[in-house]
Amino acid sequence: MNEKQRLESQQVQSPEKNKEKDYSKYFQTVYMPPSLKDARRRGREEIKYHDDFDIDERFKGMGNGRKFYIRTYGCQMNEHDTEVMAGIFMNLGYQPTETVEDADVVLMNTCAIRENAENKVFGELGHLKHLKMEKPDLLLGVCGCMAQQESVVNRILQKHPFVDMIFGTHNIHRLPEILNEAYMSKEMVVEVWSKEGDVIENLPKVRTGNIKAWVNIMYGCDKFCTYCIVPYTRGKERSRRPEDIIQEVRQLAAHGYKEITLLGQNVNAYGKDFEDIDYRFGDLMDDLRKVDIPRVRFTTSHPRDFDDHLIEVLANKGNLVEHIHLPVQSGSSAMLKIMGRKYTREHYLELVRKIKQAIPDVSLSTDIIVGFPNETDEQFEETMSLYREVGFETAYTFIYSAREGTPAAKMKDNVSMEVKKERLQRLNALVNDYSRKAMEAHKGQIVEVLVEGESKNNPEILSGYTRKNKLVNFKGPKSAIGNLVQVKITDAKTWTLNGEMIDVKESVEVI
Ligand code: SAH
Ligand code: SF4
Ligand code: F3S
Repeated sequence: MNEKQRLESQQVQSPEKNKEKDYSKYFQTVYMPPSLKDARRRGREEIKYHDDFDIDERFKGMGNGRKFYIRTYGCQMNEHDTEVMAGIFMNLGYQPTETVEDADVVLMNTCAIRENAENKVFGELGHLKHLKMEKPDLLLGVCGCMAQQESVVNRILQKHPFVDMIFGTHNIHRLPEILNEAYMSKEMVVEVWSKEGDVIENLPKVRTGNIKAWVNIMYGCDKFCTYCIVPYTRGKERSRRPEDIIQEVRQLAAHGYKEITLLGQNVNAYGKDFEDIDYRFGDLMDDLRKVDIPRVRFTTSHPRDFDDHLIEVLANKGNLVEHIHLPVQSGSSAMLKIMGRKYTREHYLELVRKIKQAIPDVSLSTDIIVGFPNETDEQFEETMSLYREVGFETAYTFIYSAREGTPAAKMKDNVSMEVKKERLQRLNALVNDYSRKAMEAHKGQIVEVLVEGESKNNPEILSGYTRKNKLVNFKGPKSAIGNLVQVKITDAKTWTLNGEMIDVKESVEVI
């Protein structure tokens, strides 16, 4: 069947038509349902490294005259996956477009971390259905973390049959094959691998900016915090080889990038899976200090694996910035135990003490979950007091959301949503308070700003971030964009700083 015939036969299916459809063959062949049971039992299967990614001759030119649009819903890792998929699209000859209406292929790169993230996607699918009715030759795909969940795949198969492709986080490199199959077949193409443990190098990437870049250092997570879906959607922990990471960073530096952020769900577990070398995250950071790139960040750290060697390396500073995002989740040891975080309040505070001792001007930020099942008022107060004791400069705060298949989802919960919301409000007020204080401490100081562009609201104003990741707005020449400049802070708000650019030649203390 050629593509025209496929499109004519496909059109948008009505629910009646869908009822007759037999999906069973997908479950036997293409579709391998993600299994939470298998994921949790996963062992130390060998990690295979593939550095020979190439686009098959058959698919070259597939995208000529066609445009793609990818909407990203998730974390930095998800955004970086979008950059890889954009790279594959461009290699196939597709062009990017800014609007769904103009696109020939629309991908939704989804996130499953909380229920509201999923609801957004299902809401958007409703809108896209109309677009698909107007434009039946549009290809519509759902990928990312939601696609790794069996229940989501089933819901799409049954309720959103107009979707053309569903593929998981381990199948991104298969995009050319998946697109080809979607053009050729009139059925929905579903490809979700549940226990893949490979690392694929040489994937093309189209990065969203030319100043800052993301670099994956590892994939997956083996921590299995009891509330979290990520270990199931991203598979087991596997590290990229140091030489591949260092080479990628060197190339980015050579292309003029000024800042990189190393990505992993738990970067402190980096290297644990190497069998032939003893090389951990501290070693990697030490090697990246020697690369000629002005700033290196990383996210996210797990307190449990944050070792002394890493602290020692970070204390040497240079291009390693003095900002650490260190999710704590709760200030109560009892809660942390039920969350499966594998550290106590005391252990966390001790780690913070060691970090502050080695890096006195460190800026710490965190993630916190409120309203975990059965969290008492006292336990919540322990989170508030820990926040004050550490003096975090900012935090991402969340109300607990039950994720199907995780151990926490089976727990009975005696805390009402009203109480959870009140706690979140109180915590957010504290977070704002501490953020404002941290910002005010910058008044009169001179900071190094990596200038990213014009401010959203006023093209006269430039904006960029300090080493501690504070947003600064200031007046300056457009030529400063993409460079590191010195700015004297004149005014502080809760989330932003205002300042004046100063002459780089002046010899002053810069933070
Ligand atoms: N790997 C990172 C975080 C990944 S998810 C880490 O362990 O720190 C980002 C944040 O989302 C988590 O730190 C946590 O605060 C929050 N989160 C994860 N699962 C959640 C859930 N089920 N409900 C509410 N918040 C959640
Ligand atoms: Fe989720 Fe915990 Fe892994 Fe972070 S460390 S991704 S919270 S399981
Ligand atoms: Fe969401 Fe997946 Fe990231 S669940 S937070 S997109 S790893």
